[in-house]
Amino acid sequence: GADEDMAPRPPVVTVMGHVDHGKTKLLDALRNANVVAKEAGGITQSIGAYQVTTEVDGRERAITFIDTPGHEAFTAMRARGAQATDIAVLVVAADDGVMPQTVEALNHAQAAGVPVVVAVNKVDKPDADPSKARGQLTEYGLVPEEYGGETMFVDVSAKAGTGLDSLLESIVLTADAELDLRANPDQNAEGLAIEAHLDRGRGAVATVIVQRGTLRVGDTIVAGSAFGRVRALLDEFGNNIEEAPPSRPALVLGLTAVPGAGDNFMVVDDDRIARQIAEKREARERNAALAKRSG
Ligand code: GTP
Ligand code: NA
Ligand code: MG
Repeated sequence: GADEDMAPRPPVVTVMGHVDHGKTKLLDALRNANVVAKEAGGITQSIGAYQVTTEVDGRERAITFIDTPGHEAFTAMRARGAQATDIAVLVVAADDGVMPQTVEALNHAQAAGVPVVVAVNKVDKPDADPSKARGQLTEYGLVPEEYGGETMFVDVSAKAGTGLDSLLESIVLTADAELDLRANPDQNAEGLAIEAHLDRGRGAVATVIVQRGTLRVGDTIVAGSAFGRVRALLDEFGNNIEEAPPSRPALVLGLTAVPGAGDNFMVVDDDRIARQIAEKREARERNAALAKRSG
């Protein structure tokens, strides 16, 4: 859209790192919830998204966070997460230091060209060595500011709740210094489905992030080869919301099918067109699958 239609939008931050280094616990601490306790085996199976607000320089600032799982099987999902992202928070446990999926995550972030803020987590542990993580990451090109580099490192404990304000501030400062985050809120919404599943009672449930425009209850959307009219929008606490502006994550109810993680979504003006687009995409996917099978 034209320049004057653009309004500032919050940064979308992906939290990445090695398995069990504390990504989900850190997000819990930031929003005062307790997702880890509810997860099967404490392992993140899908991507969650939340928005938190913080005051920086006397101004209320929102930050959108996307959680990602740390196991190797989820490389593709992490790659997609990086694409949806303005800034990556790389979580490194101070007792463990840099591990294989730390490196993988930072490679995704660097390939996507997004700035990285490092959260050195678990500094409450007796064997924590935050300077080890700094030294190791320097070798991968993430040089801490205090060593003369450009990357902000913040010591945190998701467990004790320390360093959280500094982390939020570092994210906002990185966004202000390196990015010009704006979007037009006054157009048909477009964005990304980051996770979706079929719920017994509610049908298809998709977590989306709005990238442009404003998504509203009653809008007709196409997401991958799914379509439908938005029956309800929910925020990260399960509250009904009427609309979702740029950078807002929301749960969408009302789709006729489950979109794929990483599928784009868009609002269209006409139900019939939504159905046609979805059907065309479904046919294309079916043909691609058949072609693959027949070699
Ligand atoms: P995956 O999603 O499985 O990749 O793990 P994750 O990175 O989300 O880690 P998670 O938040 O599930 O935390 C892993 C374990 O580390 C849990 O037992 C947490 O309670 C613990 N943990 C997380 N942060 C801290 C911390 O700051 N200090 C201590 N002592 N333990 C922590
Ligand atoms: Na875990
Ligand atoms: Mg997790």
